[in-house]
Amino acid sequence: MQKKFYLTQKLPPYIFANIHQLKQEAIANGKEIIDFGMGNPDSAPPQKIIEQLSKLVLDPSLYGYSVTGGIEFLKKAIVKYYHRRFGVELDYKTETLVTIGAKEGIASLALAISDPQNFICVPSPSYPIHTFGFSIAKGNTKHISALGARDFLDKFKKLVEIDKQKPLAVIVSYPCNPTTEIASFSFYEELVDFCRKYQIYIISDIAYCELYFSKEDKPHSILQVKGARDLAIEFYSVSKSYSLAGTRVGFALGNRDLISALYKIKSYLDYGSFTPLQIIAGHALDESNDDYLENLRKLYKSRGEFLVKNFADELGWHIDKPKASMFCWTKLPKQFSDISSFEFCKKMILDAGVAMSAGSSFGENGEGYVRFSMIRTPNEIKQASAKLKQVFSFKI
Ligand SMILES: Cc1ncc(COP(=O)(O)O)c(C=O)c1O
Repeated sequence: MQKKFYLTQKLPPYIFANIHQLKQEAIANGKEIIDFGMGNPDSAPPQKIIEQLSKLVLDPSLYGYSVTGGIEFLKKAIVKYYHRRFGVELDYKTETLVTIGAKEGIASLALAISDPQNFICVPSPSYPIHTFGFSIAKGNTKHISALGARDFLDKFKKLVEIDKQKPLAVIVSYPCNPTTEIASFSFYEELVDFCRKYQIYIISDIAYCELYFSKEDKPHSILQVKGARDLAIEFYSVSKSYSLAGTRVGFALGNRDLISALYKIKSYLDYGSFTPLQIIAGHALDESNDDYLENLRKLYKSRGEFLVKNFADELGWHIDKPKASMFCWTKLPKQFSDISSFEFCKKMILDAGVAMSAGSSFGENGEGYVRFSMIRTPNEIKQASAKLKQVFSFKI
């Protein structure tokens, strides 16, 4: 029996699935791949966090179902973190919710709020769940093509002002995956002001808020804007900040109605992440790990700068310095501008043994670009440029 499933037929393969498959095939054929594809942190989390987890897993009392929406200790830890980092006071009972990573949180929120009559405005390019969370929930999205925050806000305002039907919500995510763009505080003030006028919810995703490279570019929380919690929900994650991506711990913070809608859906779907993982996530958020954050910022910054210089010197490929996050985002090299970003990535895996992410995986406006994750050492970056050089030289 082979039936067609409506949703899975409609959904394209997930962004990393195609590239992953090509990578696996190349590896099976004996090729070594230098992988810049997924934003999967390669650093160890803080050592004391690993030690705490190794003790907690020996406690048999922690193996039962955890709690939907997270344990109290972790909710209180995120409240303390938001206060220290952003000066924002949150009520842990009604304004915080623990999710199984920010990705799950956004997808579950989409299930909670979508209906066929409304739509959500999403930037293109953007992290795929910002769109596909709503597609999976059979909701509608309208894409706004914009690489930077200012451009996005101008186009969003225009769309809302001329469209008779107003969106239910808008998604913003800065520092941006994939573009590395950041947003100023006045951007958030203007966004909140505008959305209040038209009664539009705001969904902010700040998964990369700790990965910034200068004090002036330090990212903000939308909840710092006075009254933002009347209409905004924010997603935060320990995945990138503390290199704890495998723990699957994220947070939804802010607007009580959205938090409560999300809680309701999640109470049907899950009982939260394994309790020891929630406990160590709570410890990770402690002030004593601020040095860890500082070192991680230095690491990603130095790798980004190294890649930018090395690729310019060796390949003549101009890549803008990343503004924040753990990525470099750039146009395809000139000599490959006649092929799609996916074709380029495929060719680089098969011919050069270097994997990266195609810009088109992040939305139609990402076509013509590629994204590198800064998860490789300078030595690996050098090896990658040497391999790419061999393929590039055929095209000059
Ligand atoms: C913008 C953005 N939000 C959320 C996530 C996922 O976070 P989590 O690991 O908490 O699900 C990612 C992961 O790449 C991301 O780029």
